[in-house]
Amino acid sequence: MDSADLLVRTLGECRISSPLGGLVTRRGTTEHYVDETDRVLLDDTLALLAGRTGEPPSFEPGGPRRQIFFDPSKIRVGIVTCGGLCPGLNDVIRGLVLELNSHYGVRRIVGFRNGYRGLVARHGHDVVELTPFVVDHINEHGGTILGTSRGNQDPAEIVDCLDQLGVNILFVIGGDGSMRGAQRIAEEVSLRDRRIAVVGVPKTIDNDIPFIGHSFGFQTAFGKATESIRAAHTEATAQPGGIGLVQLMGRHSGFIACYAALANNDADYVLIPEVPADVEAFLPHLRRRVRERGHALVVVAEGAGQDYLAADGTDASGNKRLGDFGVYLRRRILDDFAAAGEEANLKYIDPSYVIRSVPANPYDSVYCLRLAQAAVHAAMAGRTEMVVGTWRNRFVHVPIPLAVATRNQVDPNGDLWMSVLEATGQPAEFTELPHRAAA
Ligand code: F6P
Repeated sequence: MDSADLLVRTLGECRISSPLGGLVTRRGTTEHYVDETDRVLLDDTLALLAGRTGEPPSFEPGGPRRQIFFDPSKIRVGIVTCGGLCPGLNDVIRGLVLELNSHYGVRRIVGFRNGYRGLVARHGHDVVELTPFVVDHINEHGGTILGTSRGNQDPAEIVDCLDQLGVNILFVIGGDGSMRGAQRIAEEVSLRDRRIAVVGVPKTIDNDIPFIGHSFGFQTAFGKATESIRAAHTEATAQPGGIGLVQLMGRHSGFIACYAALANNDADYVLIPEVPADVEAFLPHLRRRVRERGHALVVVAEGAGQDYLAADGTDASGNKRLGDFGVYLRRRILDDFAAAGEEANLKYIDPSYVIRSVPANPYDSVYCLRLAQAAVHAAMAGRTEMVVGTWRNRFVHVPIPLAVATRNQVDPNGDLWMSVLEATGQPAEFTELPHRAAA
């Protein structure tokens, strides 16, 4: 990773005075504001900085510019939501429309229906005119008023559609697969030498997009998941041999499981995709815990333990279809307790889509609005092939190639996993078997 990887593409020189210019005229960088001429450092420790040679890598800051690229009175803007649902999608749509309309004076905004399909003629979807009136109150509801779908479409057909409608800016609200699609659209735009900005607002309850502090909707989703954990714990503590087993979303990243478990601080085990699950070592450990303490609470991320299950192809977004680890583990636990002649009263809860179809909580609503504002500022200033995010609590522009190059995962050597180990008391790896002999 070097400075060049963090450079954001621009469509051209900003020659138009921004209607928001007055907001920033007298500002310069402070602890709470980063001026557009400044940069946000990637590294935030002396050791990390010392490990660099040459100029320290840095992000372009988000926020309004004094000069912009597009003339607000002349342009048309498109918005599309792609992939699985996530709390806050409607907040972002509304935030984009209000910022464009009220602050920049952009009047022509359209929403494409059902993800990228809405930009492909043969699917025959109409477009929705988006006005402040149309988006009124939509943030009070989960889901997306535009509809969504998985899978990418031909970028050439998408750019044909943008051309025909005269769209100058396309906002894509989607996950990593959708951002790869956005990158291909931006590449097609530049092949045709068009001036169309493609700006993403990264969406994932799994929090698996790198180089953004966290994704919108994540906090709401894990907050909702805590209800299932609380229920499982209440059930487990009410009966002899009580075991609560909760499976939560998280295909490749166990952030929801970790945060939801930490929020209640009742879990005895958290199993995530990033840390290999040794079920043979886990089972005797669990039996011993139930024998000694009367109950146990186990939280698993759906992507954990996949080595024990057969793969089932991929979905339209290219994601691996997972085997159901929660159901597998439930059977293994019950069989194991039965074989040992020990009582198990296992209650299994999988809240599944319940955690992502809800409206955003107030924190996420604020975050969605601010991401939408940052996305509009970036696009109006002609930035393209980038997503908005926060890095070390500052709004930044992240080039899409960087945002899709890796995946954000719980680091088994990082401080989040350390907190989980401290809170649960589970061993760092179930391959260390100090308890096996005792079981
Ligand atoms: O990518 C986010 C996510 O919520 C995953 O955690 C989950 O596995 C997946 O979406 C399921 O979504 P769908 O059933 O819509 O493909």
